[in-house]
Amino acid sequence: MPTASRIPHPAYQAKIMSADAAAALIPAGANVGMSGFTGSGHPKAVPQALAKRMETLHAAGEDFQIGLWTGASTAPELDGALAQAHGVSMRLPYQSDPTVRKQINAGQMQYTDIHLSHVAQLAWFGFLGPLKVAVVEVAGILPDGRLIPSSSLGNNKTWLDLADHIILEVNSLQHAGLEGMHDIYYGTRIPPHRQPIPLVAPGDRIGDCYLHCDPAKVIAVVETSEHDRNSPFSPPDETSERIAGHIIQFLQQEVQAGRLPEDLLPLQSGVGNIANAVLIGLNKGPFNNLTAYTEVLQDGMLEMIQSGKLTMASATALSFSPAALEEFNANIDFYRERIVLRPQEMSNHPEVIRRLGLIAMNAMIEADIYGNVNSTHIMGSSIMNGIGGSGDFARNAYLSFFMTPSTAKDGAISCIVPMVSHTDHTEHDVEIIVTEQGLADLRGKSPTQRAQLVIEHCAHPDFRPALRDYFDRALQTAPGRHTPHILSEALSWHDRFVKTGRML
Ligand code: COA
Repeated sequence: MPTASRIPHPAYQAKIMSADAAAALIPAGANVGMSGFTGSGHPKAVPQALAKRMETLHAAGEDFQIGLWTGASTAPELDGALAQAHGVSMRLPYQSDPTVRKQINAGQMQYTDIHLSHVAQLAWFGFLGPLKVAVVEVAGILPDGRLIPSSSLGNNKTWLDLADHIILEVNSLQHAGLEGMHDIYYGTRIPPHRQPIPLVAPGDRIGDCYLHCDPAKVIAVVETSEHDRNSPFSPPDETSERIAGHIIQFLQQEVQAGRLPEDLLPLQSGVGNIANAVLIGLNKGPFNNLTAYTEVLQDGMLEMIQSGKLTMASATALSFSPAALEEFNANIDFYRERIVLRPQEMSNHPEVIRRLGLIAMNAMIEADIYGNVNSTHIMGSSIMNGIGGSGDFARNAYLSFFMTPSTAKDGAISCIVPMVSHTDHTEHDVEIIVTEQGLADLRGKSPTQRAQLVIEHCAHPDFRPALRDYFDRALQTAPGRHTPHILSEALSWHDRFVKTGRML
């Protein structure tokens, strides 16, 4: 479909301009809410034009930075371009860009790392400050002004509702067949006026297929024709396959024990190659008629829909490799019947997650012997990406898995440690820990029982004796026997790595 036919609204047509002209309308110091979630549905032209403008102004000695809010991570043409221009003073709620990460860890950019389900509420109540401009990619505009959302929804509804001014990017490369795939619930209310969210199955449609916005707030419409990030996935390696194998075997045991139905419960799968490998394993596995209530739909889930293993999937974003995108676009009518895209306040909503009873599977950086999990920080101090939706799902799911290879950096690091160097998910939210070595089911176990399971089932054999030794001595010498630690040693593995490049 040519782009012009995607903007059949005279008032919006009158506002079509270049990305440079639109970027010139964004004032210095503004908070800007941009679309974008896991490299999809982000604006592609205005952020780059804004970065160029910032560089010019910085060269002339002027300050120009913005507060940058999104759904989640974006792509080089948004996060990368603005960070390279040193144009972001405050970033939220999630990122995975190398330049952004470097600037946060160098103390040059502030970052507030937020549970993704909390962002809309924090913005509504004004805790994040005023939102001056929304820059939102859409797949098209209807004659009556409603917006056809793009390949992700994230916080777009909230940004469009709250911002003083709106800039729309209409991307003609997003498939026109996305129309009808979205479900945008406009029934959320501020407490104490909230009502139950009427969603009882992953495929339920409780809202509108279109985003609404006040045309009077739209200050620019920019036409683009650019791909999403579409990063390829690596084929699963042996470690990921072993992790997937442990999870599938465990799920089979749960079905046999009568604790899960044969078609399981709705799946939530985190980002990255391990999560994708688990899905590939499930696609070959014994379970049928599965559903998903997740944040991001990656290649693995698309393959499961294609094969018929997964009958319905709800998410807030599509994050496909180029090959998977080709398959999706070629058969979009088939997928529209089986995929629902929702705002992240719904895809990650604790009430809905608890009601549906999800099986949540997320990657982590490290876990400690008692089951506390670090998903965000390297050696206690440096941010990797952020907590994303992992906390929304972990605390509220029916089953919560955290997975990691047992070692990192060619065996110099044990991902099972005496004490995590940063805690994102406490022992109270973590039910099952999985590495390629095995799986520890921590449900109903005391801290000392957990420690034995985590050490014996999940730690790499090279680190197991040192962990046993730590735990045994802690049991003997700690002032309390409930969660025994040797405080002077608990973080010594990390300290040693920082000083010598090895944990042991
Ligand atoms: N200590 C230090 N570094 C570690 C480590 C550890 N225990 N474990 C892994 N790393 C390093 C790896 O070596 C790698 O480094 P590199 O980038 O220099 O190669 C990096 O961390 C990423 O590790 P990798 O094994 O490739 O992990 P991943 O891509 O599967 O990502 C997380 C793992 C935890 C970073 C990622 O899943 C994440 O950001 N999670 C939080 C958000 C989330 O869960 N979102 C989904 C919810 S819906």
